[in-house]
Amino acid sequence: MFESGLLKDKVILVTGGGTGLGRSMAERFLELGAAVAITGRRTEVLEETAKELAQNASPAKVFWKGCDIRSPEQIADLVQAVEDQFGQLDILVNNAAGNFISPTERLSPRAVDAVLNIVLHGTFYTTLEVGKRWIEQKKAGTMLNIVTSYAWTGSGFVVPSAAAKAGVLALTRSLAVEWARYGIRQVAIAPGPFPTEGAWSRLSPTPELSDKMIERIPLKRVGEKQELANLAAYLVSDFAAYVNGEVVTIDGGEWLQGAGEFNELTEVSEEQWDLLAEMTRKGK
Ligand code: HXC
Ligand code: NAP
Repeated sequence: MFESGLLKDKVILVTGGGTGLGRSMAERFLELGAAVAITGRRTEVLEETAKELAQNASPAKVFWKGCDIRSPEQIADLVQAVEDQFGQLDILVNNAAGNFISPTERLSPRAVDAVLNIVLHGTFYTTLEVGKRWIEQKKAGTMLNIVTSYAWTGSGFVVPSAAAKAGVLALTRSLAVEWARYGIRQVAIAPGPFPTEGAWSRLSPTPELSDKMIERIPLKRVGEKQELANLAAYLVSDFAAYVNGEVVTIDGGEWLQGAGEFNELTEVSEEQWDLLAEMTRKGK
């Protein structure tokens, strides 16, 4: 589907790139010719991932550095290190996040902060650091934010995440307008369920919960990491140069399933439809 040099000469920073969806995106970007920097808090995870990524790419194209995105100072050091390593930064992928399921009334203020500080503040700080540099350097760039399908609707039992991702969605759309004059483009992806160790261990830790999740999805399956990585590659590429402020949902139709008043009628059998047709034709 893609030209092999689609992302040639691009330098891409992926936060949370050591694991899960971030790692898959980094892998795909490398395959398409980009140089990639990954970051996260656990340096041993980053080192191992970078080693594995470099097996299928030139090692010179892979860079890792530990950074807690809750710290603006650490972010400034990180971005400087990426620029020192590659001479430039063209694309920022705000992918790092924290989340877990819990009844909201069980949350302590520290638990709320644990999620908001990573997702909302961390994403904002990273965006700010990179944006200020690009503006000063008079350099165009693209920012891709990974939100979730409940950023619009909200969701019970993951309320700090829902509030934080809604904030990131607002950030995406606000800066799409404000920073367009600097050539900085904003896009986002809203994934539905993609089984990653990080997400599943905190959000779907039992088989019953996973099965229930799949039942809700019209396509009756979860997403494959590669599918999200391909969407990300398109959105950050120059082929999407006129896409600004848009959020693409990739969820097998999950959120619409919950939204449509009559969607539950997929449960009705053919025989039941015959009976219902008789009744509704007569207007009863
Ligand atoms: C209730 C919890 C909790 C839980 C932590 N806390 N886990 N409360 N239920 N399961 C509380 C703690 O008791 C503590 O409060 C406070 O939160 C901070 O906990 P720490 O462990 O010190 O936090 P920290 O080390 O900062 O870790 C952050 C984290 C953790 C978010 C809690 O899970 C993490 O590091 N996550 C990173 C990876 C991740 O979450 N990936 C999933 C992304 S999936 P007290 O008051 O006791 O001190 C996603 C979207 C999925 O985002 C959508 C699916 C469709
Ligand atoms: P994941 O593997 O747990 O990824 C989260 C990453 O964020 C980890 O690499 C983690 O590394 C990093 N991170 C967390 N806190 C950080 C901090 N303070 N500073 C720097 N890095 C930090 O989970 P995932 O499923 O791939 O999630 C990736 C993105 O997709 C997230 O934005 C998530 O909200 C979104 N998403 C996922 C799903 C899904 O079903 N998987 C659905 C919707 C949205 P460290 O712990 O080493 O810091």
